Amino acid sequence: MRHLLSTHDLDRDNAISILDIAEDMASFGHRDVKKLPALRGKAVVNLFYEDSTRTRTSFEAAEKRLSADVINFSAKGSSVSKGESLKDTAQTLDAMGIDAVVIRHGSSGAPHLLAHSGWIDVPVINAGDGTHEHPTQALLDAFTMRKKIYGEDSRGKDLSGVRVCIVGDILHSRVARSNIWLLSTLGASVDIVAPITLLPHSIGAWPVRVWHSLDDALASGCDVVMMLRIQAERMTHAYFPNAREYGRFWGLTAQRYRRLNSETIIMHPGPMNRGLEISSEAADSPQSLILEQVSNGVFVRMSVLYSLLTGAKGQLA
Ligand code: CP
Repeated sequence: MRHLLSTHDLDRDNAISILDIAEDMASFGHRDVKKLPALRGKAVVNLFYEDSTRTRTSFEAAEKRLSADVINFSAKGSSVSKGESLKDTAQTLDAMGIDAVVIRHGSSGAPHLLAHSGWIDVPVINAGDGTHEHPTQALLDAFTMRKKIYGEDSRGKDLSGVRVCIVGDILHSRVARSNIWLLSTLGASVDIVAPITLLPHSIGAWPVRVWHSLDDALASGCDVVMMLRIQAERMTHAYFPNAREYGRFWGLTAQRYRRLNSETIIMHPGPMNRGLEISSEAADSPQSLILEQVSNGVFVRMSVLYSLLTGAKGQLA
């Protein structure tokens, strides 16, 4: 594997290998000294054209824990405001000597372009592109589910038999797309719960079951409920009457949270719109793994960087 652009490109063995290496990274993460020398002498650039809190900081933490040199680039405050293109920006950074690029971009396909245009010749990691994909988010979500279900015996396991309900703004969600492909590859079944206005036309071609009632979907039994953020910044139309109506029909309200099976796992990729797609009662409950998702993001991103930059597979030596 040269790049990580999409979870569609991962077969079961690739995906399990990344999750297993992340387990090793997690075991190092609990030591007093968290640093490993694995990427000493390598330089990784974080090329962020869109805002981010979790992904950007956890890539930076992952790179530093692997002893890489980190170059942070944010489009805001850069020569992008003077009209510099993606090609020229990437080649400028490459000329300083880089070994990998982590890119977040508002345009779907930008990481693919960077990886395959020939402009630069280093591994490219997609940190979220438009409404297309966010593969490291899906990997950290799968890691978090696997860890919760199998605990210390997670290594080598997939998610066969696990039922994941993904709820909300599927239309604009790169997290949903990456999760659907990865979860299916790992043997989980995926249920999509959304108003018809927030579903893409292509939904019929996806390996999912679709629900138009959150109450019916939850009553049918989900092992994991993954709530998605309403992406107001990508909405060009009125996709639902108002926030109150959305919360009433599609939100994990306090009432719906209380009706959940006590074993059901609650997840959200963040950032959350509290009171819209998820209530504080649900987000802050013992069933919520939202902060574990954040912690695990560092280990999974360490695993991806390590795998791509060293070519390693399976367990750490
Ligand atoms: N989940 C996620 O991608 O969050 P950020 O936008 O804060 O990186």
